[in-house]
Amino acid sequence: MSSDSLNFPDNFIWGTSTAGHQVEGGNEFSDWWAWEQKGLIEDGTVSGRAMDYWNRHEEDHALMAKLAYKGFRLGIEWSRVEPQKDHFDRDVIEHYRRILQSLRHHGFKICLTLHHWVIPRWVAEQGDWLNPDTVNQFLRYAKFVIEKLGDFPDYWVTMNEPMVPAIMGNLLGRFPPQRRSVRAYRAVCRSYLRAHAGAYHLIHEVHPLAPDGTRSRVGVAMAYPWIEPWNTPGPAGGYERFATFMARRASFEGWDHTIRTGKPHWIHGGPAIDGVQNSYDFCGINYYTRASLKYDWRRGDQYWIDDTKAPPGVDVTQMGWQIYPEGLYRTIRSVWKKFRKPILITENGIADDTDEQRPCYIVEHLAQVHRALREGIPILGYYHWSFVDNFEWREGFAKRFGLIAVRHDDPGLKRTPRPSAYLYSEIAQKNALTRKTVEAYAPQAVEMVFGT
Ligand code: BGC
Repeated sequence: MSSDSLNFPDNFIWGTSTAGHQVEGGNEFSDWWAWEQKGLIEDGTVSGRAMDYWNRHEEDHALMAKLAYKGFRLGIEWSRVEPQKDHFDRDVIEHYRRILQSLRHHGFKICLTLHHWVIPRWVAEQGDWLNPDTVNQFLRYAKFVIEKLGDFPDYWVTMNEPMVPAIMGNLLGRFPPQRRSVRAYRAVCRSYLRAHAGAYHLIHEVHPLAPDGTRSRVGVAMAYPWIEPWNTPGPAGGYERFATFMARRASFEGWDHTIRTGKPHWIHGGPAIDGVQNSYDFCGINYYTRASLKYDWRRGDQYWIDDTKAPPGVDVTQMGWQIYPEGLYRTIRSVWKKFRKPILITENGIADDTDEQRPCYIVEHLAQVHRALREGIPILGYYHWSFVDNFEWREGFAKRFGLIAVRHDDPGLKRTPRPSAYLYSEIAQKNALTRKTVEAYAPQAVEMVFGT
């Protein structure tokens, strides 16, 4: 690359991403809230008031606008909208409406998630996604939201990373409801597929048009870690390759296969799922890292695989995750080959309290997005995870993904932009990644982004 500027297409969306439970605060009728009270969060915190986005949305939107960000991804919480079975809270929907109105007023491209891992407590108590009624109940909730709020979203995400709670909550026992059962994993995957397909068609029936008058656009924000074997010599390496094959299928490949063909992948089993085939208008990619699967006889809890090690020389984040920008390019290419649908980067980001790694992380990943664009792959936008620091699930508040720093224990929850927030602002304003910007914010990345 010799140019001094990587220019992005007109109307490319420079957004940021969040999820209801992680920022709103007070999501007390949910399964995660109940689970947190058991003291299972690693840093001893609970989501509590989180970042109080529920009350401070106006201030946050004004800050985003000031920084010239163009898009925002947010979630609706089922447990707020339907805190008790069959009781839909109209005040809550009105509140969400005001939030969306404010976003529209600022001119943001809105990406709305219907389900980001969290369910109402009453759903958890009835056996969550193993209960055959849950999918229908989810679709009733979805219909209510689509009817009431359907005029706002430019993009709909029916489900965020469905395979993460399927695996973490049902196979590895690390998220609620802490099961370790292949049978439960398969049943839950099938429920998610049915819930997604149902919501996809509901949106098209109830709100066939997006705010710009074109057909509504619906997809899933899928977790695509780049999974590779460690390649230990000998039989351990053989097991690592087998584990890689299985891990890819148990996560995104199985799901993608079912969406593409309509026939459940063998990993999920069971009869065909109605309406699932081709139920994407765009492909949402959440990309963070590479996982190198290494055989370890001590990791019986993870099927004898350690996925936390980085090959020598590879930098890791505060989550211990490998920084592997090329994985984003490789993921975009493979998703494009599979679906031939426009791509939206629905999440990409890094836990970095001091903001030492984030500027490089951002520009190096954006350079990979640009590489895919140069090959003609249609990429609609990039939503950075995350706008503000937030409640990072099992890790609590200790892991900070925000462009904007917020200490959860600061009584005023003051919002303080990190240098990366200004970097991202400059990129959004120029609609380009320029040598000047990279030199100013991430000089170590100049060579990687522009060559010499
Ligand atoms: C999830 C987010 C999470 C982020 C960082 C994604 O897998 O969608 O909710 O905070 O990763 O771990």
